[in-house]
Amino acid sequence: MMSMTCHNLDFGTRVLDLVAVGSSSNASIERHSVKNHGKGFTSKVYGARRMVCCRHNVSRTRAFSTNTSEALLDGVGERTAPVLDLKKEAKIPISLANLFEVVADDLQTLNQNLRSIVGAENPVLMSAAEQIFGAGGKRIRPALVFLVSRATAELAGLKDLTTKHRRLAEIIEMIHTASLIHDDVLDESDMRRGKETVHQLYGTRVAVLAGDFMFAQSSWYLANLENLEVIKLISQVIKDFASGEIKQASSLFDCDVELEEYLLKSFYKTASLIAASTKGAAIFSGADRSVTEQMYEFGKNLGLSFQVVDDILDFTQSAEQLGKPAGSDLAKGNLTAPVIFALEKEPKLREIIESEFCDTGSLDEAIKLVKQCGGIERAQELAQEKADLAIENLQCLPQSNFRLALQDMVMFNLERID
Ligand code: IPE
Ligand code: IPE
Ligand code: MG
Ligand code: MG
Repeated sequence: MMSMTCHNLDFGTRVLDLVAVGSSSNASIERHSVKNHGKGFTSKVYGARRMVCCRHNVSRTRAFSTNTSEALLDGVGERTAPVLDLKKEAKIPISLANLFEVVADDLQTLNQNLRSIVGAENPVLMSAAEQIFGAGGKRIRPALVFLVSRATAELAGLKDLTTKHRRLAEIIEMIHTASLIHDDVLDESDMRRGKETVHQLYGTRVAVLAGDFMFAQSSWYLANLENLEVIKLISQVIKDFASGEIKQASSLFDCDVELEEYLLKSFYKTASLIAASTKGAAIFSGADRSVTEQMYEFGKNLGLSFQVVDDILDFTQSAEQLGKPAGSDLAKGNLTAPVIFALEKEPKLREIIESEFCDTGSLDEAIKLVKQCGGIERAQELAQEKADLAIENLQCLPQSNFRLALQDMVMFNLERID
């Protein structure tokens, strides 16, 4: 029997720090003035636009890191006026702090509300929730809900977000968090967001129950939104998440896995939730079906690009940078895009993987082969391909700071692998 003290819930404070940046700056006005009016938007054109935005913002932007986002926020902590050096400035990364600036207040409210919707019925579950929510997280999905809500509200003549938009963002972050808790059990992963995972700290039983509880709680809030289309959309996501985990578990060490299957699994595990976030937001703004469908496609393509990038980072970054174990996908037999591409070029890799790394040093050799065979570069191209599609999906939206931030989100994801 486990005994546990219930600490005061204080989750999300680091993320509040993260989003409380830029304060009263007129960055949004400057950003707005650098519109791209062209059709067939390519990332090169977009890159040029963003370079201008970054240069304006850099001297007055202050960002505080979360556990998992430090590496992502490099270069945005300076407060001194920069010396004008175009070459150097062109490399300034997009920061989450800057791109969330237009919805910073919405995210702050979300962090406060997440605290109350977890519920206070069970101290064990509360502590488990605090463990993972308190560890931070980038809050990408709720930020997407807010950005799409605001970007589409204008189309429908809405002046502000509704309580349904806000509740949707909370539900989405709760489902995401539940999926992470369960995913860490399945991956036997001991670190998440730079902290111990729930199952590492409280054991598998508590982790499974905490995840179940969050899925159930989010379903209850979802039903209370009383919108059948959104209820169906999000229920499907919860089902997809399970399908994705089953698909992954049943194809471990399977060197015949095809790219299409990998993409389907990635859709189930990751893109389905992001697509539902962006479509659900547009539905609550009362947008036309053509727009809601484009928002679904946007979320799907961004989600796929996001998962491919996450899979590349598993090869290229350290556990410290990631805030979660590194190099663990291949070690556990989860064959992701870089491996699938490398397998096409190097038959020796198949042999090593099929032996499940029984020989000392064989895992390192396999990682080396994946890198040597261009697996990372081809995966990068795949992430770029999906990102380009996502940018195209945004064409249906009117020009606004919110649309720019959505474009930034796509580029931010790609820049993680630069
Ligand atoms: C992690 O998602 C799981 C994947 C889909 C790859 P995030 O990278 O958004 O995780 P947090 O919320 O910031 O921790
Ligand atoms: C996405 O896949 C995880 C979820 C949808 C929960 P990963 O298994 O790659 O996520 P990480 O790398 O553990 O965060
Ligand atoms: Mg995982
Ligand atoms: Mg991963």
